[in-house]
Amino acid sequence: MTSKTNHLWGGRFNEPTDEFVKIFGASVTFDKVLAFYDIQGSEAHATMLSEIGVLTKDELKQILDGLASIKDEISKGQFEWSIDLEDVHMNIEARLTEICGLPGKKLHTGRSRNDQVATDMRLYLRDQVQTINNEILRLLNALLDLAEGEKSTIMPGFTHLQAAQPVSFGHHLLAYFEMFKRDYERLEDSYKRINTMPLGAAALAGTSYPIKRERTAELLGFDRICANSIDAVSDRDFTIEFCANASLIMMHLSRFSEELILWSSAQFNFVTLPDSFCTGSSIMPQKKNPDVPELVRGKTGRVNGNLIALLTLMKGQPLAYNKDNQEDKEPLFDTVETLQACLRVFADMVPTIKANTETMRSSTLKGYTTATDLADYLVKKGMPFRDAHDVVGNAVAYAITQSTDLSELSLEELQSFDSTIEADIFDFISLEGSLNARNHLGGTAPEQVSLAIKAARNLLKGASS
Ligand code: ARG
Repeated sequence: MTSKTNHLWGGRFNEPTDEFVKIFGASVTFDKVLAFYDIQGSEAHATMLSEIGVLTKDELKQILDGLASIKDEISKGQFEWSIDLEDVHMNIEARLTEICGLPGKKLHTGRSRNDQVATDMRLYLRDQVQTINNEILRLLNALLDLAEGEKSTIMPGFTHLQAAQPVSFGHHLLAYFEMFKRDYERLEDSYKRINTMPLGAAALAGTSYPIKRERTAELLGFDRICANSIDAVSDRDFTIEFCANASLIMMHLSRFSEELILWSSAQFNFVTLPDSFCTGSSIMPQKKNPDVPELVRGKTGRVNGNLIALLTLMKGQPLAYNKDNQEDKEPLFDTVETLQACLRVFADMVPTIKANTETMRSSTLKGYTTATDLADYLVKKGMPFRDAHDVVGNAVAYAITQSTDLSELSLEELQSFDSTIEADIFDFISLEGSLNARNHLGGTAPEQVSLAIKAARNLLKGASS
């Protein structure tokens, strides 16, 4: 029996699909990314079908051999994708039937493209999450190495982008370590929700064949099985959750980018990025532009956009599957590719960042970054903090008129603001004194930065083993 239109679903149709509707509805141009996952799913499904007696051993063998040659054709770029066959699933199934005939037509028994596509997406995403987490690990290690070398490098810490207090550059870098560590943990946690199997839900209600979902899940390495067939085919939470996690990572990369862009400007000159990560200007010969962080900052926009696209895609859909869901692919694939590229380029670039130690130091001497230390000193001598705040305010006002830092005032000048000030004051209001004083868990003293790096390295050992 042949159908007049599409031989995979055209039985009840009398007219062929409109030519443009075919193009409009096809997803194969982008969902072919799922091809190997689709084949993996089909192998497991067919194996389970043969184990429950729906396919003979011989039929299974023909199906598996056929799928193996399709894999080969795809790897070699010889597979002919056809828009007429709409999507990756029907392209592969049609080719299988071409290769092995009848058994190919039996593969779809007890399955629907609805549970098939949801399964493919999860198989795809769990692989991508692992690749992404490996890139995060590389970035985390690079941050630790850089922080190790810069733990005693002093830079101004900022609030409101105004110089606030001296901090160790290593400590500042470890703040990013914390962000990306949380990102890693979030992706790890999401893995268990991604690694849940929809297969067996069929179109939405399950199937009348005595399928063994546990067996298919075992063959595919799924930890869990979607508990409700309707939810199984309509749930795209896992893609949204991934895109939300991706947006957080991009937001962190973007903040880091923003700092690198500022810091590498002639005005800050805190860091130098190597030529290999920068570009020049076609008109201004002096320019060296930080393209990599700028692009990463820019790409954050599209990753955020993809998240909103998916949330909006899902918000109005009645249960269960709707064709709308075909629109979940491009935002997800784009997010995966963009995120992987941004993490990769950052993990490559971080080890090349050169701190301009002297500029950072002289910049820290501007802006009265140890004023709090002078106040704390007076408090330790018995003055209430509010009064100390006032005294130091006066001292800062005076230092401004002299164009000097507090630590550059003479002992006599300092004593004119409070007579309890003694010669040891310079141990407190020098940059090193200020830094070393913050010697507690999570503080910026180089000793603490060392301890934090050690703890972080131990943590990473656990993550990669
Ligand atoms: N290409 C479709 C998608 O991406 C596959 C599932 C189609 N299912 C259907 N009932 N039309 O969602």
